[in-house]
Parts: sequence; structure tokens; C-alpha cells
Amino acid sequence: MAEFVPVDPFDIVIFGVSGDLSRQKLLPALFHRYCDGQIDASSNIIGVARSVMDAPAYIDMVRDCCQAATEGAWPEDMWQGFVKLLSYHEIDATDPQTDWRPLRDNFAGEDRPRIFYLAVGPRLYVPICQAIDAADLKSPLSRVVLEKPIGSDLQSAQRINDGVEAVFEENSIFRMDHYLGKETVQNLLILRFANMLFEPLWSNQTIDHIQITVAETLGVEGRHDYYDKAGAVRDIMQNHLLQLLCLIAMEPPNSLDAGNVRAEKIKVLNALKGFDAATVSNNTVRGQYTSGHIGDTRVAGYRDTLPDDIKNSETETFAAIKTEIANWRWAGVPFYLRTGKRMHARRSEIVIQFKSTPHNVFGEGQNQPNRLVLRLQPDEAMRLFMQVKEPGPGHMTLRSIPLDLFYARSFSSLKYPDAYERLLMDVVRGNLSLFMGLEEVMAAWSWTDNLLSAWDKADQKLEHYAAGTDGPLQASLLLDRDGRAWWNDDIEDGA
Ligand code: BG6
Repeated sequence: MAEFVPVDPFDIVIFGVSGDLSRQKLLPALFHRYCDGQIDASSNIIGVARSVMDAPAYIDMVRDCCQAATEGAWPEDMWQGFVKLLSYHEIDATDPQTDWRPLRDNFAGEDRPRIFYLAVGPRLYVPICQAIDAADLKSPLSRVVLEKPIGSDLQSAQRINDGVEAVFEENSIFRMDHYLGKETVQNLLILRFANMLFEPLWSNQTIDHIQITVAETLGVEGRHDYYDKAGAVRDIMQNHLLQLLCLIAMEPPNSLDAGNVRAEKIKVLNALKGFDAATVSNNTVRGQYTSGHIGDTRVAGYRDTLPDDIKNSETETFAAIKTEIANWRWAGVPFYLRTGKRMHARRSEIVIQFKSTPHNVFGEGQNQPNRLVLRLQPDEAMRLFMQVKEPGPGHMTLRSIPLDLFYARSFSSLKYPDAYERLLMDVVRGNLSLFMGLEEVMAAWSWTDNLLSAWDKADQKLEHYAAGTDGPLQASLLLDRDGRAWWNDDIEDGA
């Protein structure tokens, strides 16, 4: 088992505790950290929502969601301890008449971290921060956690940040992108900066192109209120995909200190090439899924699941783009990014495609380039495809065979903690390194705004793709035109 270092006792207030994020991620994450002995029994988990719920109904709700997220035998003894940390307050945080005293009574003191987790839509971030301030809920060790996407464009993100920063200082604002809490995403830093092997090869000298894919088989799962206004670019590309791109492309930071890592990421974002109405159609694809099959299950199309007033939605559930990073290391290396819902398979994957050897001594068709495939989820793996000789006398046939590192094989006794487990403990510790800084979020919005406005100006067509496929044909053509292809191979579970 991995060792879990206990964190100091803390108080956390979760706004929006009855919502999806809290039920599916936050409450189970806290429960699992408690079960592993990382959370002290004197900590307080204070739930806030507008839902009318008495204490037993709240406890039932928390139990249900923790049970749903717990594999194996249910640890009833642990649950009995965890339940003592819980309390619920039915509060409308935006109502000036709210009586905050009962909630305040739950705080154990000012000498421990006091965390405000805003598991609500971004439009409520500022009103809630103002309410926290007005009700005098802050303490010297207060922290606030904001979920992505922060706003819906640069302007709204700026407004939100101004409002939040009027109450909390920058170093107590934790901007969450849960991809950064994934073990395999953190491993990108180790791969690049703890191994000498790749660094000399990590540039336009030897790399042909890079692909980053975040594909899901899930649809919007009843979140159309949010998703239809956001779309794939705001939901995934502006944050998860760009963060992965930064980790792959940034220069080695001087240390893992949040400021140093952020500074390197910002340089990448600022060097990322944008689009205009003339270049956007050749370099990007917008897609939306229609009905289809995921495995044997027939699933409805995106529009089929929407309420009548938005039935003809033009929101993209898929986006693919070709971009470049304008600096010495990466000039000339295309970065192909794609994300989509209801795709053929769930995969978050980075493919580093090396150049072919400059001269081929083995004959026509024998010159497969090396390829490093970093599978972040599921079946976490690193595979380095090498050219080897197919055994046999009398001929020289080359095959591309991977050197495999399947994490499941190497760390078979370890379970991967959910990203939220790691990140929540980092908030308690006050460790900002895996959270996004203000400038980073702004740089990501600025690039995203440029893409969305180029789409607007060019009236970019929405391409349809059947659920259960690898996206619209146009996404394949995006690479095909360059003599390349998406890496769509499934890898078998290496366990
Ligand atoms: C969230 C998006 O940030 O990430 C969701 O809002 C998406 O639409 C989810 O489903 C994917 O996360 P993961 O961890 O399942 O890859």
C-alpha cells in the first residue's frame, strides 16, 4: 500500500453539496481519505445547499454516494466514524437574510485550515465569496476552491477573478483542474524531468508531431443546462487538454514550486498559435454526435436528449484542432488535439511520434518511426514502439513492437486514488502546485476565445458523427492531409 501522510485537522464547507460533483467526487473522496487514516476525526465536513433535507436524509444521501464509489466490502466501522464529521445546512448563500450562525458554530477554530469549496456554477462564485465575506466566515487560514471552467470566456473569467480576489488572496485561491490530480498526469513530469533518456529528443529535431486525445464514451449525462452553453472546447479543451499540452511542451521548471511550474506553462500558452477566419476551417473540426452504438448499447444522439427549447442545438460535442507552439523547441511540430463525447472508446492519451530515420537501409515500407504512447486512462500505460527484426531466416522484415510499461503490472497492489482525493488533501496542505494560476487561466481563455471567435467569423460547419465512432470524417482528414493518422489502437489491459 502507498503511505498516506495524515493532514492537519481542517474544516471544509462544501457549497452545492447535493449536486453531482459533490455526490460523485467530493464526498466519496473525503470518505476514502478518512478510511485510509489521512483525515483526522476532529475535522468538520459542512455541507451547504438549498435543498430541503433533514439530518438523516443528508446522511443517507452521503452514505449512498460513498457506497456507490467504494469498491469491495463496505467499511461500516469507518463509516460510523466518518458520519460524525458531517453536518448539513439548508442555505441560500445569495440571500442577504441568511442566518449563518448555525454554520459558523461548526467551525472548530481559527488555527486550522478553513476551506470553502464552491461546487456550484461559476456565476455563483462571486456572490458566494461576497456572502462569505459579509458573514465574516473567513479565518486567517481560509482557502477557496473553484472548479473549471472558470467563466465562459476571458471577460467573464476576469470578472470572476476580480470578485473572488476581492475576498481571497491569490495564494489562497485553488483553481481546480482535476486532470492535474491524476497519477498518470503527474507522471508526465516524472517521465520528462526525472529521466535523461527523452530530453535530448524532446524537440522539433526528432519529433514529427504530437497527438493529445481526451475521448469519452459518456454523453452529457443530464448536464445539458451547463454543457449546451459550454460545448467541448470550453468543457475540456480550454482546461484538461491545454494542461496536458503544457506538461508535454513546457521547459523544465527550476523546481516543482507552483510559481515555477505555472511560469513555464504560461510561456507555452502564450506561444500557442491561434486562428483567423481564413485558417480556422482547414485546421479545426467541430462535431456533434448523432445516435449510434457504444459496444452493444444503442445510444441517442445529442439533440435527442435535449429539452425542446434547445432541440436544434449547434453546440459541439467534439473538437479537433491542429496547432503549433511558436518557439525554438517546437516550431514546425504540429500538435493535434481532439476531444469528444460518445466516442468509440474512453481514452486519454498522448502520442509522441518521432521522425523517421533520415535514410532507410532496410528497403521500401520498412521505415516505421518510433512512437511513444502515454495512456493516461484507462489501462494506464507507457509504450515505446521500437523497430525490431521479425525472426526468420532469409529475410529482413521489420516490425514495430512496443516496450511496455503497464502500471497495473508494476504496481499491482496499489489502487489509484481518484484525482479529487489527491487534490483535496493538497488544498488542506496549502500546496498550490497542482492548481491553475490566474495568469494561466487567462492565457488559456485568450487562446480559446480566439478559436471560438474564428469559428464564429468563419461560420464553421458542425460535422455530425455517429455515437461510438472516432468522430467526424473531417477529423481524420485533418491528419490525412498531412500524411498522418490518428493513433486509434486499443491497447489490451496489461494487468
Ligand atoms: C469534466 C468535464 O471536467 O471532465 C466532463 O466537465 C467530463 O464533461 C470529465 O466528462 C471527464 O473527466 P474524467 O476524469 O472522467 O476523464
